Amino acid sequence: MKLIPSLLLLPALGAAAALVAQTPTPAPTPPAPPPAAAAAQGGSPLPPGPGHDTMVRVCSGCHAPDIAAQQRLTPDGWHELVEMMANNGAVATDAELAEITVYLTRSFPADQLPGR
Ligand code: HEC
Repeated sequence: MKLIPSLLLLPALGAAAALVAQTPTPAPTPPAPPPAAAAAQGGSPLPPGPGHDTMVRVCSGCHAPDIAAQQRLTPDGWHELVEMMANNGAVATDAELAEITVYLTRSFPADQLPGR
């Protein structure tokens, strides 16, 4: 009858192993602050993401690209503004203009206008 106690121990060992496996891992690093918070901290108001670099390159020619962050426009509104800048003399391919329009629409949508 010496076997039984050690057999009974096995599930207990398994449970202990499961507990160890469930030990919480260190908390993940907090997510990046939203664009508004980044701007408040003195960083660029232009959030990173696809199209960011193209936008900064194309839209820095005549004025700070940051001024786009003061606008909140619908997709059509951004499309018109980007077309307007292209007509003003912004140099970019159609694909780059489309990329910039998508970036701006995603970063500064009209429905984020405070008070709307
Ligand atoms: C060739 C010069 C030039 C380039 C390049 C340029 N802009 Fe402009 N932008 C202007 C001028 C000039 C004004 C001010 C006169 C006006 O509102 O038309 C302006 C104004 C603006 C304004 C303010 C409009 C308002 O109503 O207050 C925004 C936003 C803007 N530009 C965004 C952009 C974006 C986005 C790009 C890149 C796609 C860009 N600009 C590239 C010349 C340029």
